Amino acid sequence: ISAYDDLNRWTANKLDAVVVGIDYRLAPQYPFPAALEDCVHVIKFFLQENVLAKYRVDLTRICIMGDSSGGTLAATVTQLLQNDPSFKGRIKAQALMYPGLQLLDTLLPSHQEYQHGPILTREMIIKLACLYVTEDKVLLQAALRNEHMPTESRHLFKFVNWSDFLPEKYKKNYVYTEPVLGKLNASYPVLVDSRLCPLLVNDTQLQSLPLTYIVTCEHDLLRDDSLIYVSRLRNVGVKVTHEHIEKGIHGALSFTKAPVFLNLGLKIRDKYINWLEENL
Ligand SMILES: *[C@@H]1O[C@H](CO)[C@@H](O)[C@H](O)[C@H]1NC(C)=O
Ligand SMILES: *[C@@H]1O[C@H](CO)[C@@H](O)[C@H](O)[C@H]1NC(C)=O
Ligand SMILES: *[C@@H]1O[C@H](CO)[C@@H](O)[C@H](O)[C@H]1NC(C)=O
Repeated sequence: ISAYDDLNRWTANKLDAVVVGIDYRLAPQYPFPAALEDCVHVIKFFLQENVLAKYRVDLTRICIMGDSSGGTLAATVTQLLQNDPSFKGRIKAQALMYPGLQLLDTLLPSHQEYQHGPILTREMIIKLACLYVTEDKVLLQAALRNEHMPTESRHLFKFVNWSDFLPEKYKKNYVYTEPVLGKLNASYPVLVDSRLCPLLVNDTQLQSLPLTYIVTCEHDLLRDDSLIYVSRLRNVGVKVTHEHIEKGIHGALSFTKAPVFLNLGLKIRDKYINWLEENL
């Protein structure tokens, strides 16, 4: 994939690693779960013993990584493989760079604080997320009001409750409000599917996840999705290295190649590569 070719080559050269970049299908032409299915397909193919042998991959040192929506996919694929008896234990680590991890609550404190950016705006991210589900504008309009979830989803809100999972420092002066449910007449069953929102799996399923590296950026609308995931993973005993970048912005890793180099992006890249070198 051209957008990630530089980072992938850098990773391969620095670590003497085999890097596979997955050119998954994109919405709205190919809505959920096409992108996810492509990722699962490629990774399961790659994990076959003869394929790993062909590329001389050490099968005990495999990491799944993604940034932004790729981080969402990486988190989901790791959950699916880890809870699949044929693949359990095959992934040593997951690395998630500022991923979006849920669509239930579109008003987490970071969604409010950074609603106008930088990089991502609330309207843009909700539009993109909704397009992955449907081109029907009704969902988009409801999600912008944070009134898009069905009544029967109430029990899922405990998994994304920022009042419970966000460290005090990040709650700032925001006040938690209970979800407004059942306002949307149209029904989108995928909204309650953990393959769309990896934060929706329960603690039993989280418990089995491998060593996890998560980068969060302070000035990022998606920051709190990841902070909630960090809390939930640590609560069930998963080993997490959490790198919070105080001056960070969403997508910083993309600015590590011509024509735009950001020191910030290079710093995140180097921290990530060092972590892989020490932990994979
Ligand atoms: C979220 O957490 C707060 C504080 O623990 C609690 O009062 C509230 O009922 C919770 N809401 C949901 C939907 O889980
Ligand atoms: C949803 O359905 C109810 C009952 O059928 C109807 O009164 C209401 O106008 C509908 N709302 C929208 C936004 O279509
Ligand atoms: C967790 O979710 C899995 C899969 O949906 C289910 O089989 C299991 O019973 C759930 N465990 C708990 C404690 O709710």
